[in-house]
Amino acid sequence: METLTGKTAILTGAAQGLGYAIAHVYAREGLRLVLMDVLADKLQQVADELTASGAECLPIVVDLSSAEDTQRAIHLALAQFGTPRVVVHNAALLKERSMQEIELAQWQREMNIILQAAFILSKAVWQPMIDAGGGSLVYLSSGSGIKGFLKEVAYCPGKHGQEGLMKVLAMEGEPFNIAVNTITPGAPINTPMSAENYNDDLKQKWVDPLLLTPAFVQLAKLTAQDGITGQRLNAWEMSQA
Ligand SMILES: NC(=O)c1ccc[n+]([C@@H]2O[C@H](COP(=O)([O-])OP(=O)(O)OC[C@H]3O[C@@H](n4cnc5c(N)ncnc54)[C@H](O)[C@@H]3O)[C@@H](O)[C@H]2O)c1
Repeated sequence: METLTGKTAILTGAAQGLGYAIAHVYAREGLRLVLMDVLADKLQQVADELTASGAECLPIVVDLSSAEDTQRAIHLALAQFGTPRVVVHNAALLKERSMQEIELAQWQREMNIILQAAFILSKAVWQPMIDAGGGSLVYLSSGSGIKGFLKEVAYCPGKHGQEGLMKVLAMEGEPFNIAVNTITPGAPINTPMSAENYNDDLKQKWVDPLLLTPAFVQLAKLTAQDGITGQRLNAWEMSQA
């Protein structure tokens, strides 16, 4: 495990929620940050806050449901900040809709943000990470990555798909020292997504997402030779350990 100062992290969904918390902790670790989100004003605000605290940031406004937009964003990130030490694909969209309610375009939007973007981002950094001698890829998973939930006709298969992509890439990445893992929050978190979807009982128990961030610092330091790859991790448990 190594120091992170001066290395690059690419983080999606950085404008709010868990991504916002991870961005702040990564900045404190001295990482240079590529911050991606579709919410332009909020993203700029985060970048301004972090820059004022001394961090080096590149905010990129991107709609990760679009393949072209995602490719443009990741190539800009690589051109300006170089090969990342860690990529955290944290952005996601959850709109509860049953099979009777959902339309194809809505299904594709959620799936693309969660799964297609995971592929495009990973594909773009794969060879650069091989050339750099390793790195760490992290996809934000969920209970919905291993179980079905009513009305999650798109979110659930998207999260299951990330688990599958992680398993394959972990095997392919191991000889190149690239660690690939998923991580689930492991505790109810107080974020805009939760505010929209949790019941009152869960809202009584939700915790500040900052409490989960030690796990993401550990993941930024990982490579495959640390022995943690191909795993579905739990951010709450890792952060409490
Ligand atoms: N909140 C929970 O209880 C919970 C539980 C399990 C897993 N997760 C996962 O944790 C991660 C973070 O969740 P959160 O609660 O902070 O969510 P959030 O909705 O509060 O934040 C998600 C971020 O992703 C961004 N985003 C959404 N669509 C985008 C798009 N098309 N292009 C670019 N950015 C886009 C949003 O603008 C937002 O900033 C997600 O992957 C989520 O699935 C959350």
